[in-house]
Amino acid sequence: MHKNGLQVAIDGPASAGKSTVAKLVASRFNYIYCDTGAMYRAITYKVLKNGIALDDIEAITKIVDSSQITFEPTAHGQKVFIDGEEITEAIRQEDVTNSVSAVSAIQSVRTKLSADQKQLAANGGIVMDGRDIGSTVLPNAEVKIFLIASVDERADRRYKENVRKGINTSLEVLKQEIRDRDYKDSHREISPLTKADDAIEVDTTSMAIPEVVETISKIILKNIN
Ligand code: DC
Repeated sequence: MHKNGLQVAIDGPASAGKSTVAKLVASRFNYIYCDTGAMYRAITYKVLKNGIALDDIEAITKIVDSSQITFEPTAHGQKVFIDGEEITEAIRQEDVTNSVSAVSAIQSVRTKLSADQKQLAANGGIVMDGRDIGSTVLPNAEVKIFLIASVDERADRRYKENVRKGINTSLEVLKQEIRDRDYKDSHREISPLTKADDAIEVDTTSMAIPEVVETISKIILKNIN
C-alpha cells in the first residue's frame, strides 16, 4: 500500500458511469478523486478558446506545457479550473465534447497529463477515472476496475441526465455519438481505451449506482485487509 492508501483505477468507455461511481467510492474511503477526462477536456477548452486548429500539434503542445489545471472539491461535486478560470460547466459543452477525442490523441498532451496524473497518485489514497489509468498511467494500481454498460443503457442515462438539465437531445443521436466516441477512444494509436489484463470488469447495464459502489468498495476492502 502507498503512504495515503490504495491507488484505485477506474477505466471504461464514455458514459459508463465512471465519474459518478468514482466520486462516491472516493468519498467513502476519504480518498482524493481525479477525473482525468476533465483534464483532457480542460486542454481542449483552452485550445478552442484560443482558436487553435486541432491539427496544430505545436501550438497545442505549447498550451498543454504552459497550463495549470486544478480541481476544487465542493459539496456538489468538483470544480475544474484552467489557469485560475473556472471551466466546470464549459468543459461539458458540445464543442469541447466533439473535439476532445482529437486533442486526447496527441502524444505530447498524453505525456504531460499522464505525468501530472502519476504525480498526483504517487502517495496513493486516490480514485482516478479515465481510459488508460490501469493500463498506462498507474500500471501498479492495487485495484483496477473496468466499467462497461451497453450502448442503449449509456445513451438512456445520458438522455435522462440531459432532460434533468433541460437540454433537448435525441436518443438516436446520443447512441450514435457514444458509438463514435467508443470507436475513436479504442482505435487511436496512443494509449487507446483498453482493459488492463489484471482489471476486474464490472457490467453496470442492469445495476443501480449504489450497487456498483458497493461492488467496487468490497474489492477495495479486500485489498486493504
Ligand atoms: O470521460 P470523459 O468523457 O470526460 O473523457 C473525455 C475524453 O478524454 C474522451 O473522449 C477520452 C479522453 N480521455 C482519454 O483519452 N484518457 C483518459 N485517461 C481520460 C479521458
